[in-house]
Amino acid sequence: MTDPISFSTALRERSGAAHSGSEHSGFMADLLRGEGTREDYTALVVQHWYIYAALETATERMRHDPIAAPFISDRLTRIPALEADLEFLIGSDWRESIAPLPTTRRYVERISQVGTVWAGGFVAHHYTRYLGDLSGGLYIGKVMKRQFGFETNGIGFYLFDDIADPAEFKNVYREQLDAAPWDAVERERVIDEVLLAYRFNTELFEDLARAKAELVA
Ligand code: HEM
Repeated sequence: MTDPISFSTALRERSGAAHSGSEHSGFMADLLRGEGTREDYTALVVQHWYIYAALETATERMRHDPIAAPFISDRLTRIPALEADLEFLIGSDWRESIAPLPTTRRYVERISQVGTVWAGGFVAHHYTRYLGDLSGGLYIGKVMKRQFGFETNGIGFYLFDDIADPAEFKNVYREQLDAAPWDAVERERVIDEVLLAYRFNTELFEDLARAKAELVA
C-alpha cells in the first residue's frame, strides 16, 4: 500500500492551478518581461504594505496561540523592509500619497477577520504569502533589481537577510504544516482559505492592471 500524501504536499498540489493563475497574471508577467515601469513596481509595493501590515498585526495577535506559534518567525517580518522601500521609491512623505486598491481592502479585511481568531486561517494566509516570497519572490526581486538598477534599496522586501537557506526554511515550514493538529475537515478548511488567498492575489494583479490602464487613458 502506498503512503497517503502529506498535508503539505496535498496543499501544494491542490493550490497548483491557483498558483499558475496568479503567477501568469498580466501585470506580473509584464513586470517580469521588462514591460512594466518603475511606477508599476512601486504600485505593487504600496499594496504589499497594506497586506503585510494586516498579516503582521495578526502575527502579533497569534504569537502565543499553540497552533499558530510554530509558524511564526521574526526572520520573516517584512514591514520594516517595505517601509524602507517606500521611502526610497516615493520619498519620506510616502504615507500621504498611497491608498489601497479595492481587492487589497477586501484581502486585508479577510486577514484581519480570520487571521486573528482562527489559527488555521492565520496559517493559510501566512503560508500563501511568506512561502511564496521565499520561492518565486526571490526570483522576482532579482529581476526587479536588474531592471530598475536597484542595489538593495527598493527591493528590501525580497531580501531575507536572516534566512541563509530558504529551501531549508521551507522544508521546516512544510514539516510544521504536516505536524499541525488538524483533522481532515480542518485541513480542507485551511486549503480553502489558501485558495481564497490566491484569489485575492490574482485579483490584486487585475486591479493593478486596471489602475494602470486608467492612468494611461
Ligand atoms: C511571477 C510570479 C511568481 C513566480 C515566478 C513564482 C514561482 C514559484 C516557484 C518556482 C515556486 C516553487 C519553489 C519550490 O518548490 O521551492 C513557488 C512556490 C510558491 N509560490 Fe510562487 N511564484 C509567483 C507568484 C506567486 C504568488 C502571487 C503567490 C501568492 C501570493 C505565490 C505563492 C507561492 C507559494 C505559497 C509557494 C509554495 C508552494 C509550496 O511549496 O507549498 N507565488 N512559486
